[in-house]
Amino acid sequence: MILAIETSCDDTCAAVVDGRLVLSNVVHTQTEHERYGGVVPEVASRAHLERMDAVISKALEDADVSLDDVSRVAVTVRPGLIGALLVGVAAAKGVAYARKLPLVPVNHLEGHVAAAYLAEPGLEPPFVALIASGGHTALYSVAEDHSMNLLGETLDDAAGEALDKGARMLGLGFPGGPAISKAAKNGDPARYEFPVGLKDKKNLDFSFSGLKTSLLYKLKAMDEEEVREEIPHFAASYESAVVEALARKLLRAADMRGASSLVVAGGVAANGLLRRRLGEECEKLGFGLVIPSPELCTDNAAMIGAAAAHTPAVEYPEYLSLNARSV
Ligand code: KG4
Ligand code: ZN
Repeated sequence: MILAIETSCDDTCAAVVDGRLVLSNVVHTQTEHERYGGVVPEVASRAHLERMDAVISKALEDADVSLDDVSRVAVTVRPGLIGALLVGVAAAKGVAYARKLPLVPVNHLEGHVAAAYLAEPGLEPPFVALIASGGHTALYSVAEDHSMNLLGETLDDAAGEALDKGARMLGLGFPGGPAISKAAKNGDPARYEFPVGLKDKKNLDFSFSGLKTSLLYKLKAMDEEEVREEIPHFAASYESAVVEALARKLLRAADMRGASSLVVAGGVAANGLLRRRLGEECEKLGFGLVIPSPELCTDNAAMIGAAAAHTPAVEYPEYLSLNARSV
């Protein structure tokens, strides 16, 4: 049984995982950042520190286990906000050291991919994975031994970052992904044309910065009243361009790799339009597609526990010198 901890960004998370079974998954989302329209690193570190103990206790309580039942502690060590990561790493070291348990250092991106094993316990690599979050947008081929080989990535903004920035320009609040989806409900995705970055390039990279600039110019050309009326259409057209870029490159990656098993993970994988679009396409093509439930797509510790199942542990007490890394 693994106690897992995740504090790489603005969610304070702890979970108890047994193999591919989630016994508890506690996520405390920090609301302190909303007024700033983005995550403030120092605020995140302090908020993690305040809640870490309570979140760990709740994870054990929800799983109906005690520390006596835990055989390993797993924690996100990279990439992420360094101060935020350090809070989780220090907490994990403390628990593991007190109980003389091994500690498993987990890469956050491997964690996002591992959420797919919780969603679909029969899933085994190889497959092609798309990770789309607030900090990353990348395609990987995942091999039998779980090693991840980068196929392509964003050259500028991440998909989630593009949604967050777009939402901010439209005055829709933070985080932008869910806010844009909500605003797009009654919008026409074909009303405005937004560039789909590197659409026709034969590579597997992404670019989302042109999208943001395009929105900015469109908004500048209109008065406030007009913009207000057009919000649903802007949201729908913008969301559709982000989804199109992601879906297109994932399917191209599958084609280039000859893969028929696909995984989509990271916060943006919670997006309803992306899930529907890829679901339909993969059904037509006869591809296996795993997209974890929205709670397992956004940051959580259960996915870190799932990745720990195939990540080497560091034995007691060697991990005391273990450090977090921002990249
Ligand atoms: O994976 P995640 O929770 O944190 C990072 O590691 O970055 O991803 C957060 C990102 C944010 O940019 C947020 O706007 C986006 O995921 N997001 C969504 C949705 N829920 C979260 N984007 C689109 N649709 C959603 N439903
Ligand atoms: Zn993440």
